[in-house]
Amino acid sequence: MELPDTLDDTLCALRHALVQMARWGCRGFDCSDRTRRTLASWDRPPEVVSVQRREGLGEVRDDLGDCRRCILAAGRTHLVFGEGHPQAELVFVGEGPGFEEDRSGRPFVGPAGQLLTRIIEAMHLSRDQVYICNVVKCRPPENRNPSPEEIGACRPFLERQLACIRPKAICALGAVAARALLETNAPISALRGRFHDYRGIKVMPTFHPSYLLRNPDQKREVWEDVKKIMALLRIPL
Ligand code: URA
Ligand code: URA
Repeated sequence: MELPDTLDDTLCALRHALVQMARWGCRGFDCSDRTRRTLASWDRPPEVVSVQRREGLGEVRDDLGDCRRCILAAGRTHLVFGEGHPQAELVFVGEGPGFEEDRSGRPFVGPAGQLLTRIIEAMHLSRDQVYICNVVKCRPPENRNPSPEEIGACRPFLERQLACIRPKAICALGAVAARALLETNAPISALRGRFHDYRGIKVMPTFHPSYLLRNPDQKREVWEDVKKIMALLRIPL
């Protein structure tokens, strides 16, 4: 709107506005105390509009802190939060830290991790282009499967990590990760090989690299699954 710059112009503009309002049926103004109080309240400084800012991975890590939410805390050396690109298009979710991961505080660095690294490289990606984490952040004793209670205690943090990163695809490694993400009890053999949905993100379950170390003939299946992720991410073979 153009602003009038003299008193004359201002009065002229005001008159014009009043005439216009009269044409629309306006016959006067409510100058009651109540109305004046209402109008006065409009002069208060506008409340700061709170724009929903998305939290970062650092905040999720800070909230975990020195986590004691489940019994796995008692046996851990290091909590293994996860690592990789904070805006990765692809997130690998494993089950939980093993011996080497507990020692180092980093996900997938033991024998299974080395195989996962080779799978990532076969996809023409590197570990720092993807994000790698686990369903539970602390090592279960003797590498047993995490219990539903332990998964439940850690789930909000996995969910927040995924909400921060918002990848295009998640590769769920093994039955524990696939079942936790997809909230099903179906066997991994029935889940793998096709995309499922986790909150609008495509999830490809596949066999766990530890399972591949014991059953190398299943690598072919994993390669088929991984190629589907590559196609989704438009990575040429
Ligand atoms: N197995 C997992 O599931 N996660 C790791 O980080 C390492 C081994
Ligand atoms: N069982 C699992 O838990 N994971 C696999 O990858 C295969 C069998």
